[in-house]
Amino acid sequence: MEERARVLLHRTHGTRFHRTQPLEVAVHIMSPWFLLALVALVPLSQSTNPGVKVKLTQRGLEYGRQIGMASLQSKLKSIKVPDLSGTEKVAPIGKVKYSLTGMQIVNLGLPKSAVGLVPGTGISLSVGNAFISLHGNWRVKYLRFIKDSGTFDLAVSGLTISAGISLKSDETGHPAVSCASCAATVGSANIKFHGGASWLYNLFSSFIDKALRSALQKQICPLVSDAISEMNPHLKTLNVLAKVDQYAEIEYSMVTSPTISKASIDFSLKGEFYNIGKHQEPPFSAAPFSLPAQSTNMLYIGVSSFTTNSAGFVYNNAGALSLYITDDMIPASSPIRLNTRTFGAFIPQIAKRFPGLMMKLLVKTSNAPNITFEPNNVTLQATGTVTAYAILPNSTLEPLFILDMDASVSAHVYVTGVKLAGAVALNRIDMTLGTSYVGPFQVKSLDNILLMVLKVAVIPKVNARLQQGYPLPAIGKMNLINTQLLVLKDYMLIGTDVHFTE
Ligand SMILES: *[C@@H]1O[C@H](CO)[C@@H](O)[C@H](O)[C@H]1NC(C)=O
Ligand SMILES: *[C@@H]1O[C@H](CO)[C@@H](O)[C@H](O)[C@H]1NC(C)=O
Ligand SMILES: *[C@@H]1O[C@H](CO)[C@@H](O)[C@H](O)[C@H]1NC(C)=O
Repeated sequence: MEERARVLLHRTHGTRFHRTQPLEVAVHIMSPWFLLALVALVPLSQSTNPGVKVKLTQRGLEYGRQIGMASLQSKLKSIKVPDLSGTEKVAPIGKVKYSLTGMQIVNLGLPKSAVGLVPGTGISLSVGNAFISLHGNWRVKYLRFIKDSGTFDLAVSGLTISAGISLKSDETGHPAVSCASCAATVGSANIKFHGGASWLYNLFSSFIDKALRSALQKQICPLVSDAISEMNPHLKTLNVLAKVDQYAEIEYSMVTSPTISKASIDFSLKGEFYNIGKHQEPPFSAAPFSLPAQSTNMLYIGVSSFTTNSAGFVYNNAGALSLYITDDMIPASSPIRLNTRTFGAFIPQIAKRFPGLMMKLLVKTSNAPNITFEPNNVTLQATGTVTAYAILPNSTLEPLFILDMDASVSAHVYVTGVKLAGAVALNRIDMTLGTSYVGPFQVKSLDNILLMVLKVAVIPKVNARLQQGYPLPAIGKMNLINTQLLVLKDYMLIGTDVHFTE
């Protein structure tokens, strides 16, 4: 596909830059070649469909604003106001040498702020009515020899900041923000001199006010930009490679930069299980899917059947989908035991050739299981084998027969912590004879025994593993609250609010 897209692009360029016949240009732009090239171009820039999608709604953004404002507030408190000094002619006393020193911020408030989404561009941040209170020292010298000094309190109000934040995927597939634009204005400043004469106010309003406000103003945007950049270490905690267990890890890197619409920011994550350290692609790929427009929760996470099927592929490849069943795994209360006496009742050859021996069963998948999502229904289809062995007195396993198995289980899926977990129940199982080492027999006669073995020994083991869960994409110490999970066609939709603990 990529190769073809390049070839087509090349041809289109060839036509577009035709010099001698300018009339042909328009004709060729409309030609099927050009349209085909445009269609073929799409997979060039977006070659991987995401397996997992995450939608951050206005409510999520609002929660982000609250966290962000706390950090911006502490950042702005670090404003260092430079000392101001000079000589000016002040009515009614003439030339005054002045200095304002040791200015410290005693209070800073950002009472009004808002974040919004700018479709296709980024996030807008606006802060209004902010205020800063400062305390400092003043000193003047006038009429050649008179010196005076004291302290002052300065109240700066009507501070506004408007910033544009751009959001993209960095080279490691983590989200990254940067300050794309920033403007800050300082409304008015009110000073109160402790000590000193009333003409100090003239000095302030004529000469100092503007310089001081501009000194403050100059420092705001760099600090806003710093505060925005300081979010990146947190965003870098996105588990782009989440360890699952000894067999598997999940890749949650972003496959494209996020898309920003009026109502949400949409992240496309790879959402693919891999064998640890061995990233082999499965023989199927992710199909495009889209999350419904929802806004009740802060966050929506869509997990596609591609993601769960990639898990099946990985565990099957790792040989993890196999289990030896021994008699000690059958409850003591069961009259049915895993021995040649039980099986000998249905297959006389077994009782005859291997009297009085314990048996062992090996249940394993032969292909990756197929997991399908239909509305309110998760079904897992698995094909595999059941091999029955007699355990000889010297512990050697003597194979008796191999059954081919085709099983269907229903899964209940739920969120626990920041993990997806589940439990399965057997729907049906079909078994046919693969190979017999003990002569022909009716597989049907073993149905009840094998069904019991699956129910008491296999399903509980599977469920014990599923109950431990699989990590969802997460940032930092993220907790999920008010979480619901819906099973829809081809994906699961998790709606949730988030809460960060430090
Ligand atoms: C999985 O099952 C679905 C529905 O039964 C089917 O359409 C699909 O082809 C199957 N996929 C594989 C890999 O067998
Ligand atoms: C779920 O889907 C499977 C396969 O499509 C079907 O056999 C089963 O009856 C369905 N279960 C429910 C509860 O609808
Ligand atoms: C175990 O016993 C069987 C049958 O008596 C014999 O065929 C086999 O070679 C023995 N295996 C070992 C490892 O001793």
